Amino acid sequence: MLSSLPVLGLLVLSGFTNADVGPSFQRCPADFQLVRRGQTVSAAEARYVEQKRKKVLPVAFKAYLHNVQQTGVVLPHYVKSILECEEELPTVSIATSGGGYRAAIFGAGVLNALDGRNASSAKKATGGLLQAATHLAGLSGGSWLVTSLAQANFPTIQNLVFGGGDFGGWITDFDLWTASADPAVQAKFAAGLLQEIAAKATLFPVSVGDAWGRSLARHFSNGTTLATFFGNTSHGGGILFSDLIKLPTFASHAQPLPIVTVNLDSKHINGTVFPGGSFLPLNSPMFEINLFEMGCYDAVLAAHTPTQHLGSTNASLCASGFDEAMFVAGASSNLWNQVNVTDAGAANLAGSTANLSVLVNETYPQPPGLRLDTSNVPNAFRGIAPETFADSNETILALCDGGEDGQVTPLQPMLVPDRKVDVVIAIDAANDVGGFAAGASLIATQQRMQLFPQGLLPFPAVPSTLAAFAAAGLATRPTFFGCAPAAGPLLVYIANGAPPRDGAAPRTNTSTFQSVYTADALHGMLDQTFVVATQGAAVGGALEDAEWGACLACAVVDRARARQGVKRSGVCTTCFARYCWEA
Ligand SMILES: *[C@@H]1O[C@H](CO)[C@@H](O)[C@H](O)[C@H]1NC(C)=O
Ligand SMILES: *[C@@H]1O[C@H](CO)[C@@H](O)[C@H](O)[C@H]1NC(C)=O
Ligand SMILES: *[C@@H]1O[C@H](CO)[C@@H](O)[C@H](O)[C@H]1NC(C)=O
Ligand SMILES: *[C@@H]1O[C@H](CO)[C@@H](O)[C@H](O)[C@H]1NC(C)=O
Ligand SMILES: *[C@@H]1O[C@H](CO)[C@@H](O)[C@H](O)[C@H]1NC(C)=O
Ligand SMILES: *[C@@H]1O[C@H](CO)[C@@H](O)[C@H](O)[C@H]1NC(C)=O
Ligand SMILES: *[C@@H]1O[C@H](CO)[C@@H](O)[C@H](O)[C@H]1NC(C)=O
Ligand SMILES: *[C@@H]1O[C@H](CO)[C@@H](O)[C@H](O)[C@H]1NC(C)=O
Ligand SMILES: *[C@@H]1O[C@H](CO)[C@@H](O)[C@H](O)[C@H]1NC(C)=O
Ligand SMILES: *[C@@H]1O[C@H](CO)[C@@H](O)[C@H](O)[C@H]1NC(C)=O
Repeated sequence: MLSSLPVLGLLVLSGFTNADVGPSFQRCPADFQLVRRGQTVSAAEARYVEQKRKKVLPVAFKAYLHNVQQTGVVLPHYVKSILECEEELPTVSIATSGGGYRAAIFGAGVLNALDGRNASSAKKATGGLLQAATHLAGLSGGSWLVTSLAQANFPTIQNLVFGGGDFGGWITDFDLWTASADPAVQAKFAAGLLQEIAAKATLFPVSVGDAWGRSLARHFSNGTTLATFFGNTSHGGGILFSDLIKLPTFASHAQPLPIVTVNLDSKHINGTVFPGGSFLPLNSPMFEINLFEMGCYDAVLAAHTPTQHLGSTNASLCASGFDEAMFVAGASSNLWNQVNVTDAGAANLAGSTANLSVLVNETYPQPPGLRLDTSNVPNAFRGIAPETFADSNETILALCDGGEDGQVTPLQPMLVPDRKVDVVIAIDAANDVGGFAAGASLIATQQRMQLFPQGLLPFPAVPSTLAAFAAAGLATRPTFFGCAPAAGPLLVYIANGAPPRDGAAPRTNTSTFQSVYTADALHGMLDQTFVVATQGAAVGGALEDAEWGACLACAVVDRARARQGVKRSGVCTTCFARYCWEA
């Protein structure tokens, strides 16, 4: 139980509000290393994956194989032998895109379809892969899903979204940007957010990112119910990202490792901006925050710092308590830099929440020059890679929404060679056309990888234009990329790409800025998403592919098959002809 953790125990026992919880400095642990260089994963992550492979994956893949087999589709022998052999088990990861609530909900719907705990998902043979996944990355709206799921101790998606078990569920009834239309209620709400960052403001720079994180916590984390939304309770304050390793489902390796991505908004970076509303150039350094480390795998920096001590800038005095889970999700979804809220009188993102930056600075005056529109983290990487890391001299890393460079699906963490990922399930609910995804995020990642010929992370070839995606219908049914022998993972692309095939009105292409969802809307979106993730392609005259579950299993084992030197055969040959896109 996490309530036995010191910080939360204090919270519960003394009845303090989270205004009393905040970061602090202590002498650093004796073995503390502020910065770890390189493009390998941390020792802690390697240990987590090793333990998961040993203790969880054999059982998880057996259950998944059982689900696939009960569809009656005859699989080539190698699918079974790989999924039953401990040494051969594939490494599966999941990346879920940004796109506000729409993306959080669509991503949740796909995870539900992959969740072996849902009997309908198991019956469709997609269920069980979530249990077999080692990494789960999200950005922006996708980071709300990933962070919420992790901190709630990995409940089923139904319990996550609607409450049940002992988690209260997502609170989508109140406006995400401006909680109340009543100015008095809104003012009190904003005062609550500000009060909750008081302790942090005594030690660290604060900005709109801090208030935004506290606001998000009310919708996605433990500690808030419909009844207490406007109340003066803890609202999940003090739930630290790095502390989630102590949750039972993480300690038992049942959860995949959560990863959240953010972009660096650097004033020193100039480069090609990916078209279609992107804001930062594609060469902006990309950071990831996982439960163990925050760092950048780009060759320009290739350095990491412990998440638990985020806020530290030297190895003598260490910060703790900076890495609040919802501050992390807030950084990944911080779009305020796009509306220039640091310029007095500049456009508001959405009414008075954007005004939070003004309120933050009125309450806790920040030095001139400090960004108020980004999520600010003291730069642990100061002096590192001065030749190539543009912000090596900066005292603060100004972080923002992970999709601002156009890479709206967080694929890059899964390309890190040391993660040895065999297959990435890429869930894309970006708004490319009319609230639907059309492939832009994959094109952005492809272009970015081409910018870095050294320190290249292998990414499968994808079409280079939206027109080519559309012509081949690649976003309207699952598509496999990287089917030919290649370094790096095979990509299983599942996009929110089209209205339902049965002619029903689409419910999943809502606006990125829709800020309130009814339970009916949530149910409608989750149901349509379930169909998207479980139907596969339209085959013959049928709306769905009775072999889709088997085809997905063929993709899951394909890199392991290649390692064994076995030839693709049987239904897997048919499946790859049906689902692969080749350059
Ligand atoms: C959040 O709530 C769930 C459900 O009550 C609980 O299992 C989990 O431990 C809580 N998480 C934290 C970080 O306290
Ligand atoms: C919330 O409660 C704390 C402690 O009980 C109190 O100091 C604070 O003024 C309250 N804040 C609001 C906004 O009511
Ligand atoms: C930034 O890029 C633009 C377009 O390529 C160029 O015109 C401009 O000179 C560059 N500025 C700096 C400071 O490098
Ligand atoms: C280490 O960082 C802390 C907090 O920013 C600062 O107060 C302290 O002076 C630094 N110590 C050294 C040796 O730089
Ligand atoms: C934001 O600020 C930059 C630099 O001052 C300016 O070039 C840009 O036009 C501004 N954008 C908006 C939307 O105001
Ligand atoms: C924004 O903040 C200013 C200063 O506190 C206040 O005068 C103004 O009414 C606020 N605007 C909105 C839309 O809340
Ligand atoms: C924040 O407030 C301080 C003190 O009033 C002021 O000097 C600074 O310019 C403000 N920052 C911004 C970005 O407006
Ligand atoms: C950092 O500062 C040093 C000394 O002022 C300077 O030589 C170097 O070029 C700067 N590096 C960057 C990346 O701006
Ligand atoms: C959703 O798609 C439908 C049908 O393609 C379209 O009519 C509608 O405008 C779209 N909704 C949004 C919010 O873009
Ligand atoms: C399984 O998922 C479907 C589709 O979203 C949903 O209708 C059903 O309630 C879920 N079942 C359970 C037990 O969570």
